[in-house]
Amino acid sequence: MTTPLISFENISYQYPDKTLALKSLSLHIDKGKKIALIGNNGAGKSTLFLLLNGLLIPSGGKIYFNGKVLTYKRVELKKLRQKVGIVFQNPDSQLFSSSVYEDIKFGPKNLGLSKEEIQKAADQAIHLTETETLKEKPPHFLSLGQKKRVAIAGIIAMNPELMVLDEPTAGLDPYYAKKIMQILNDIHHENRTILLSTHNVDLAYEWADEIIVLHNGSLLAQGQPAKVFQNRELLKQSHINQPMILEIYQQLLNTMNIPLPREYPITQKDFVEKLSSLLHT
Ligand SMILES: Nc1ncnc2c1ncn2[C@@H]1O[C@H](COP(=O)(O)OP(=O)(O)OP(=O)(O)O)[C@@H](O)[C@H]1O
Ligand SMILES: [Mg+2]
Repeated sequence: MTTPLISFENISYQYPDKTLALKSLSLHIDKGKKIALIGNNGAGKSTLFLLLNGLLIPSGGKIYFNGKVLTYKRVELKKLRQKVGIVFQNPDSQLFSSSVYEDIKFGPKNLGLSKEEIQKAADQAIHLTETETLKEKPPHFLSLGQKKRVAIAGIIAMNPELMVLDEPTAGLDPYYAKKIMQILNDIHHENRTILLSTHNVDLAYEWADEIIVLHNGSLLAQGQPAKVFQNRELLKQSHINQPMILEIYQQLLNTMNIPLPREYPITQKDFVEKLSSLLHT
């Protein structure tokens, strides 16, 4: 068995006002996976993300990065933040330079890259996120969706081992939401792990290799999307809907009196193919 990229061992986190946001949470993030974290408002998703790159320190339990326990020493934190790039839920927490271009160059600058490398990394990220026309603007003048794309570009430019995105598509129009998911597919490879949180179960189902469900600060499930989203008890308990494709497919099979299969459609294309083969048999 390979060592997980990150392991949480009985992690609890209590905010200064005594809110217990995470309760003895144990989970592992495997290298190279595309993982969607879901859970209703206040479940603890953003808190978990802030723990992942050391912005918060657990009140209890241990976090391991590549098998080594985090001790929160300065040098270690600096290294951790170079490896874990986080896109905050609120882009205003992230953007502070005088122009979009400067903001996107900030991360690679911090990594100590050369001037040419910084420019190359920033230009690539700008191209990918279609933010060319925003380059010279002050970030605080941008619309919410534009700010989100710039914040994502800033993390892409850092080329981190683990990318953590807190609701990356919230506030984006359908074109850019789709675009961002495509980019996350394109930049994903076996040495890059991507973890995002979302309230969009359709997006999570289609994109992720693995789903993590949080509820009231506790882990309810971690597993394959088709498996997690078929667990009706779990969905009910965590106030989560079933992805539309899965729900319609199951209902269709039920009305056609066809036994439920092992394999479920994941994408729309898949759905149409499976449906037409059912209709032609
Ligand atoms: N700075 C804070 N001080 C006190 N309590 C906090 C703070 N930040 C978050 N909380 C509380 O911690 C719990 C978890 O919040 P968190 O923001 O992690 O949830 P979330 O799953 O990201 O929710 P959402 O879907 O609304 O973004 C909530 O009960 C919230 O009220
Ligand atoms: Mg949140």
